[in-house]
Amino acid sequence: MKQGHALFVTGTDTGVGKTMVTGLLTALFAMGGYDAIPYKPVQSGGIRSDLGLVAEDVEFYRSLYPLPYDQNTLCTYCMEPALSPHLAALQTGVCIEPEHIAGHLQKLRASHDFVFVEGAGGLAVPLQEDERGIYMTVDLIERLRLPLLLVTHPGLGTINHTILTASYAQIRGIPILGIIVNRMPLAPGEMEQDNVRMISKLTELPVLGTFPEMEQKEPKALRTRLHELHKCINLALLLERLEQAEEKLMQTKGTEEH
Ligand SMILES: Nc1ncnc2c1ncn2[C@@H]1O[C@H](COP(=O)(O)OP(=O)(O)OP(=O)(O)O)[C@@H](O)[C@H]1O
Ligand SMILES: [Mg+2]
Repeated sequence: MKQGHALFVTGTDTGVGKTMVTGLLTALFAMGGYDAIPYKPVQSGGIRSDLGLVAEDVEFYRSLYPLPYDQNTLCTYCMEPALSPHLAALQTGVCIEPEHIAGHLQKLRASHDFVFVEGAGGLAVPLQEDERGIYMTVDLIERLRLPLLLVTHPGLGTINHTILTASYAQIRGIPILGIIVNRMPLAPGEMEQDNVRMISKLTELPVLGTFPEMEQKEPKALRTRLHELHKCINLALLLERLEQAEEKLMQTKGTEEH
């Protein structure tokens, strides 16, 4: 019987390192003996290849950690235009159905201990615009009832980006497990150190991990560093907070159903 935990990896912006963190988490949990799988519900900027449309993020997960699954198992909607998903969907005639994603995730949860769901961009990203209105990433997270893991950067501007993202999730009642600071310089200066202290203090969230700026970021080089990277993240605290958040989400579900 699989544990079926799941969390949503979001970031303060596109390109902040969600795919890197999702891929590393999958590999690090697998190293710890868990059956973990990454999942990208919506990818825009898909790459055309002999095999059809390929989601770049999924390719990265698979190159970092051998996963015996094809693209369609790890990504529900892959669209070619490198645009906001709502526009990529409009241009390619795709209708992004939250219920379809929810069903896909449910299947993955039933057959794995952990599913790491990577969003496209940040929380305020439109996924679909139609006569019903605009469906946002934050709406999908709410529908999937997932807690968040927030990936941020340690550089200038991060206090503002991180507080805004955390506040938006909190306003929507979405639990946040904690923050992962990605691309910490090898020799952090006073600014980076103070930024990390400030975002944790202002959000009242724990920093669950800090991944360094990696000179060699090719999957092969990363694989050789997994033991060292294992020390960069507090997996025990992440698990503890995940269990607490799942309990809270179950309780709110119960309340809503009554
Ligand atoms: N710790 C790191 N050290 C060095 N380079 C990094 C690190 N993390 C991410 N990068 C690089 O930054 C770029 C963006 O990272 P990544 O693809 O993980 O971002 P993302 O948030 O998933 O972006 P998207 O919103 O497009 O999905 C990539 O080229 C990646 O190799
Ligand atoms: Mg990504």
